[in-house]
Amino acid sequence: MDWFRYENGELFCEAVPVRKIVSRYGSPVYVYSRSSLRDRYQQLERAFREVRPLICYSVKANSNLAVLDTLKGLGSGFDVVSAGEIYRVQRIGADPRKVVYASVGKREEDMEMALNWGILMFNVESSAELELLSRVASRLRKRARVAIRVNPDVDARTHDYITTAKKENKFGVDLYTAEQIFSNPKRYPWVEIVGIHVHIGSQIVDTSPYATALDKVEKFIKGLGPKARSLKYLNIGGGLGIRYKDEDPDSAEVFASRIIPYVKRLGLKMVMEPGRFIAGNSGIFVCRVIYVKRTPAKNFVVVDGAMNDLIRPSLYKAYHRIWPVVERTSETMTCDVVGPVCESGDFFAKDRQIPQVDSRDLLAVFSAGAYGFVMASNYNSRPRPAEVMVEGDRFSLVRRRETFKDLIRGERLFR
Ligand code: LLP
Repeated sequence: MDWFRYENGELFCEAVPVRKIVSRYGSPVYVYSRSSLRDRYQQLERAFREVRPLICYSVKANSNLAVLDTLKGLGSGFDVVSAGEIYRVQRIGADPRKVVYASVGKREEDMEMALNWGILMFNVESSAELELLSRVASRLRKRARVAIRVNPDVDARTHDYITTAKKENKFGVDLYTAEQIFSNPKRYPWVEIVGIHVHIGSQIVDTSPYATALDKVEKFIKGLGPKARSLKYLNIGGGLGIRYKDEDPDSAEVFASRIIPYVKRLGLKMVMEPGRFIAGNSGIFVCRVIYVKRTPAKNFVVVDGAMNDLIRPSLYKAYHRIWPVVERTSETMTCDVVGPVCESGDFFAKDRQIPQVDSRDLLAVFSAGAYGFVMASNYNSRPRPAEVMVEGDRFSLVRRRETFKDLIRGERLFR
């Protein structure tokens, strides 16, 4: 089911006209569909039901408290990457025994926070980290459960910036080092190695790289022999792709049918960390046309949203579908959709054909629910947009628009 759809030429999120949301809360604004979040989570839950995985929603994709709270309500756990994300999931009352923590750069104080809270496990990315974690755990007299994040050296065939399991990437430990770790557990006395973690990248639309990675992981675990006795979990990470344009991503069922056999053969409890799959198409970004600027070379549709609000097109040349919130005409125009920020990289689309628009028209930028607001900044001293959540015919502000005061919060003069 598509939770964002046109009815008589007007865009709705669930049962709410998007225009109504903008007239209440202004533009630019992110709009999330709660039913879509639920639907996507449950698609995974259903597809993998045979192995009853622990689904740890990847907080980095969209960390708004209302989004986290919605997922917690469905029984989701959380994948966090920083003390700040731990703070967020604590604030919504998440169960620490459903929280996994990955990051190549965990500091002592981050480890302390996670240990004191009693998270399920750390996804450890180097032997240096393992040593430090063991020391911190010993100081706190709390055993640290860890999964070793292995880097199986596979190409997820996605954007270079979001591929993570090639040997030149900074993530995880190579299989040789991982073997060393399993062979010398006494070096890390306060650490209990309970899992293997593998995350190969993001926006992966076909399952074969997962199979390649899991083949290697399975061989590795089997090769460990009795040293693998302490293993309880296999964490396959996130990365399941979505449709932005015309991709035809493998469904949750197809993913499940490829992955479940490994989980069963290894006899481990499966953990997964989906972010984009749940949030990506559960949100849109809405902005208003300020001017239509026609030059001899191009038409520019200048909108009130910009790269600081949604950076994916600028950063990855990512494609996001853009369409008027209210369709007024079937005549089209070819244009660049750009923001007001003083950079040529500030665009949402280039040479895009859309229906003719004019000043004050609203445009929806689709598939903006993941890696949208979370990557927003205040560049050019632009207050960050509001976020609104919809469910059925109800909608509510889940983060107010920033004010000028927010822009200078914490700043001091030096005279
Ligand atoms: N687990 C780990 C260890 C990760 O590093 C990530 C994402 C995930 C799970 C969730 O991946 P997902 O299911 O959302 O693909 N900003 C980029 C995406 C960066 C992804 C970083 N890691 C973008 O806008 O495409």
